[in-house]
Amino acid sequence: MADKLIIFDTTLRDGEQSPGASMTKDEKLRIARQLERLRVDVIEAGFAASSNGDFEAVKAIADTIKGSTVCSLARANDRDIGRAAEALKGAASSRIHTFIATSPLHMEKKLRMTPEQVFEQAKLAVKFARNLCGDVEFSPEDGYRSELDFLCRVLEAVIDEGATTINIPDTVGYAVPELYGNFIKTLRERIPNSDKAVWSVHCHNDLGMAVANSLAGVQIGGARQVECTINGLGERAGNCSLEEVVMAVRTRRDYFGLELGIDTSQIVPASRLVSQTTGFVVQPNKAVVGANAFAHASGIHQDGVLKARDTYEIMRAEDVGWSANKIVLGKLSGRNAFKQRLQELGIELDSEAEVNAAFAKFKDLADRKSEIFDEDIIALVGDESVTSEQEHYRLLALSQRSEMGERPHARVAFAAGGQEFHGESDGNGPVDASLKAIEAHVQSGAEMLLYSVNAITSGSTESQGEVTIRLQHGGRVVNGVGADPDIVVASAKAYLAALNKLHSKGERVAAQG
Ligand code: KIV
Ligand code: ZN
Repeated sequence: MADKLIIFDTTLRDGEQSPGASMTKDEKLRIARQLERLRVDVIEAGFAASSNGDFEAVKAIADTIKGSTVCSLARANDRDIGRAAEALKGAASSRIHTFIATSPLHMEKKLRMTPEQVFEQAKLAVKFARNLCGDVEFSPEDGYRSELDFLCRVLEAVIDEGATTINIPDTVGYAVPELYGNFIKTLRERIPNSDKAVWSVHCHNDLGMAVANSLAGVQIGGARQVECTINGLGERAGNCSLEEVVMAVRTRRDYFGLELGIDTSQIVPASRLVSQTTGFVVQPNKAVVGANAFAHASGIHQDGVLKARDTYEIMRAEDVGWSANKIVLGKLSGRNAFKQRLQELGIELDSEAEVNAAFAKFKDLADRKSEIFDEDIIALVGDESVTSEQEHYRLLALSQRSEMGERPHARVAFAAGGQEFHGESDGNGPVDASLKAIEAHVQSGAEMLLYSVNAITSGSTESQGEVTIRLQHGGRVVNGVGADPDIVVASAKAYLAALNKLHSKGERVAAQG
């Protein structure tokens, strides 16, 4: 039987570190459930010691997920490791992932520790973690830029202390495939007890080679775990993308010869959910999950695909979860049909109250849009006002007037902490006027870093517009997403969603800090 490649998803930890990608507990739980449906082996649910919010999210995921191992990151100290163990208590299968930097640059400039101190702390951390959890992963941060002899010494020692997985991060995305693959191979050959641990790769995408480096780590180096994120989400240029690595290993099984536990038909739903939750749009030409990934525009290609699909297609769109836009429900659909469609889409709402709230929104949408697609439903349940978390700001009503040659004017009514506010303003356009009307009351002082509009379903102006707004205030960057057939309303919803996130003020410690 072929070796198994373990897929370790870190969308909710390393992915979430991307500025603006921070998620609420309910959003993380929804993504974790989708990752479980995707059958990833390990879900890195967060960094429990970094904030109370992260602790609660890791705990909720550990208490809920049964089909995947749930993992928390922890710096190499007793407090972090203790918090991780505490958050993971309810998990059916848990892992503590502890790390400390080992490169000369990081040890000297960031940690201000000597190599000897780092060596001792790594050993103590793994020993402590092993007393709390049978499954312990150790990462030498900036491992790829570490000095080889020192790294071998540290890794041999932590394996002796009971580390079950050794992960080699290319923290800054500096590696190139052949060198990274050989680096892992050399470590495994030189470390006498290397066969006592599973070897793992963790690559960042600064030079666009995270997937290639990870695959080289597997093929040349013999690693049997890949750390990755949905859509390659992550700080800077992101992490190794799960969908690319999985489909490369599956499509080229002849070359890699490895087994995967992944249900690939859940890849596109996972990609959509992460994109809609974070507001990070997937580029159309992105491999596997981009809107054009299976679109054949040229006549020669179309002709070929019609005659024999494998002339130009190496994967089948349906194998990764692409389905043609389906009209699922309409104005006359009842609550039961709606609930059943939620179930078919794998969407679990926590309570009947949430189903009722979602159904009310669905009816409202069906009054204004004749055909409701799966994508509309996914966007609708992604709306914060449906889920149980309390929102401080909520849009109540919006009207705007715009005429060619006239300055647009908007009136907006919204709730803030239970009180109702009415505002009005002029603006350069109706969106500008609406957001100014809100801002005049809220006075957040936030700077807008991004405003983008996308059609939820392609091919018609009947589609809902999905607006993403990124705001920055007091050192925090947040994204708000809003959907509506009217893009001015979608914009106001997105603005209020971003303000809700700023209002929730979750402070956290940076993993690389
Ligand atoms: O990139 C990195 O070094 C990390 C570690 C914390 C594993 O994410
Ligand atoms: Zn990382």
